Amino acid sequence: MRFEEEQWIRLMDDLAENDYVTADQFIDDEMYTRIMNFFREKEENDQLTKAGIGSSGEFKVDSSVRGDFIYWLERDNDQKMETFFSLMDELVDALRKYCYLSLSGSEFHIAKYPAGSYYKKHLDQFNNRSNRMITVLLYLNENWKPGDGGELKIYGKDQNILVEPVARRLLLFKSDKIEHEVLVTRVPRYSLTGWLLHQPASFGFVLG
Ligand code: OGA
Ligand code: NI
Repeated sequence: MRFEEEQWIRLMDDLAENDYVTADQFIDDEMYTRIMNFFREKEENDQLTKAGIGSSGEFKVDSSVRGDFIYWLERDNDQKMETFFSLMDELVDALRKYCYLSLSGSEFHIAKYPAGSYYKKHLDQFNNRSNRMITVLLYLNENWKPGDGGELKIYGKDQNILVEPVARRLLLFKSDKIEHEVLVTRVPRYSLTGWLLHQPASFGFVLG
């Protein structure tokens, strides 16, 4: 599609080397508009719900840890997001081809952080469920400027990095390696977040 093979290779190389990578202008205006129209529709229909922490067994809502509101995408139902999903298919193909990752399945949600909210330092894995391999973030804030806050802080090996959540910027990182935090946002902050899941070695075999 819009991303050339060479660009995929560069992205995958950086991810393999640094455990994270960013790419600006990852989506074009048309896709940006589609995603934002979808987002506004969900927002206006009150379909965003308070996000929690932990997986189903030990799920809880705790605003002192994270303050965002989310809507989980479903490929079959959310057909307005199909072009986004096919771009994610391309991403998965590139990760398989150039990073030799065994991936199977994914989960995506849109997220709105109201002014004053944040997400404390964490790893994107739960104790009882650790199959999240790659975290995918697509930022959607058209007029973001310094002082608006809501940067993603990456706790790096040698130094910490701040990623500004500007519209059309992609951020990928290894879910089990990168500790990160969403700094307090001063303005409503929009993003699309997802995880590419690990395919266990036994997948497809009947056990027992
Ligand atoms: C998360 C998360 C980061 C961001 O949802 O787990 O860390 O920049 N999001 O929105
Ligand atoms: Ni996270």
